[in-house]
Amino acid sequence: MSYTKATPYPRLTERPAWQALAKHYRQVHDLHLWRLFSDDPQRGERLTAEGAGLYLDYSKNRVTDETIKLLLQLAGECGLAGRIDAMFSGQKINTSEERAVLHVALRASASERIEVDGVNVVPEVHAVLAHMATFSDSVRSKSWLGHTGRAIRNVINIGIGGSDLGPVMAYEALRHYSRRDMTFRFISNVDGTDFAEATRDLDPEETLFIICSKTFATLETLTNAHSARAWCLRKLKDERAVQRHFVAVSTNAEGVEEFGIDTANTFGFWDWDGGRYSMESAIGLSTMLAIGAENFYAMLSGFHAMDTHFRSTPFDRNLPVLMGLLAVWNNDFLGANTVAVLPYEHYLKRFPAYLQQLAMESNGKHVTLEGAQAEVPTGPIYWGEPGTNGQHSFYQLIHQGTALVPCDFIGFCQSLNPMGRHHDLLLANLFAQTEALAFGKTKEQIAAEGTPSWLVPHRVCEGNRPTNTILAERLTPGTLGQLVALYEHSVFTQGAIWNIDSFDQWGVELGKVLAQRIIPELESADEPKLGHDSSTNALIRRYRRLRKEP
Ligand code: F6P
Repeated sequence: MSYTKATPYPRLTERPAWQALAKHYRQVHDLHLWRLFSDDPQRGERLTAEGAGLYLDYSKNRVTDETIKLLLQLAGECGLAGRIDAMFSGQKINTSEERAVLHVALRASASERIEVDGVNVVPEVHAVLAHMATFSDSVRSKSWLGHTGRAIRNVINIGIGGSDLGPVMAYEALRHYSRRDMTFRFISNVDGTDFAEATRDLDPEETLFIICSKTFATLETLTNAHSARAWCLRKLKDERAVQRHFVAVSTNAEGVEEFGIDTANTFGFWDWDGGRYSMESAIGLSTMLAIGAENFYAMLSGFHAMDTHFRSTPFDRNLPVLMGLLAVWNNDFLGANTVAVLPYEHYLKRFPAYLQQLAMESNGKHVTLEGAQAEVPTGPIYWGEPGTNGQHSFYQLIHQGTALVPCDFIGFCQSLNPMGRHHDLLLANLFAQTEALAFGKTKEQIAAEGTPSWLVPHRVCEGNRPTNTILAERLTPGTLGQLVALYEHSVFTQGAIWNIDSFDQWGVELGKVLAQRIIPELESADEPKLGHDSSTNALIRRYRRLRKEP
């Protein structure tokens, strides 16, 4: 594995920096953030970094200068710089699938050259972008008409996982910039309710379906695509209508053609682009239809700015590297195997769901690149909700629970919908939460307020809860690109330290295979002979007995 360029220590926990970190942790584990701040009045300005339009305050993490120094040393020993170069230069760093990992090529400028197997992929990327822009302009300008001559008013993206979460997150995030005279919906679940609710008030004559599937073989997506076809044809009664009401985004041109979609209306992408890293490829066609090509290109520039920052900024000022290393510190030394992502921006309400796939499908791995058992916990569990809503539900556990939950707070200095005091109140809450989590409230402070002694322990907030705060000026298409790329590269950094393949997803396969075995057992008219465990057998029998035939 030439690309790793790591020093020749086979095991992560044997690396000098890891061992130094373990020793260091024993020295600092009971240091409190209030002590770190009172000893260093400049800490809140010092432990920050700025790049590609984003400001990161990581001062409220349980780290000292020595921690950061050792984490940076660890990055060096793990060959992070070599890994970054390997990714950007198209080496096959997704080793278990023997693929390059080049989402960074999706946002490269036209003059760049990025090769996979000796072929520069950048011109192809830009050709697809131009195709998307032409198509999107024709739909938005109403020159693309449906089968009966009506303009398209509704766009429905059908896809799942990376073929859904990116598009839906980006649509919600950039709704402010979207065409308000068009309706955008997203169907992912094989649960018919998803389809029924998304289509119930729409007219097929005015509806365009984008079938998004890298493989064009995913059960949920193909089932929904066939239901969409039937829904359309029930009204339009002409097979030729499919060509005006369906387009596809896929790497599987044959599968698309078989479905009946015009190859001229198929937008390609490549096996070097993983599903969860594809929202800025043709998978983002619905995004472009919603916000227009110009805004889409602005989003790509945001991604690219963060790519450049990641690739060229020294690690001690590099936002994704710092965030990734802090995530490793929190996960493996502080034992906090989770991260709450808390955007104080309502348009980012689907951002935590998007990050769940990005982070957990990438780093939820139990073996190293060499196939050895991972020695330390890998991928933390990502989750979250927008602020301030979460404050009135699960934040209680973050403040006073026994689990340590590091949080990423995300805020914007300007509101897209300024309204009286709202934005100041929103940001005041964000800042207050990071303050409360870091410094808490001691029993002495509570007692001094005259609280009866029996109540004091209930009101104590220990503080010392680690947080990052990411601030940007305003949520724009460009900022969204910067933010997504920040997390992509933070996830990459974590994977590089753990020496895992962050770009495969073998774990999701087993469930898919077992479902294929069970489907005929549910559908067969005769009582099937079941060979599962006793629980699965009983569940299947019970379902067959109680289900209601349509
Ligand atoms: O099952 C997981 C997965 O393969 C994801 O990685 C992917 O984003 C999703 O399914 C959808 O796959 P496709 O785009 O091929 O339909």
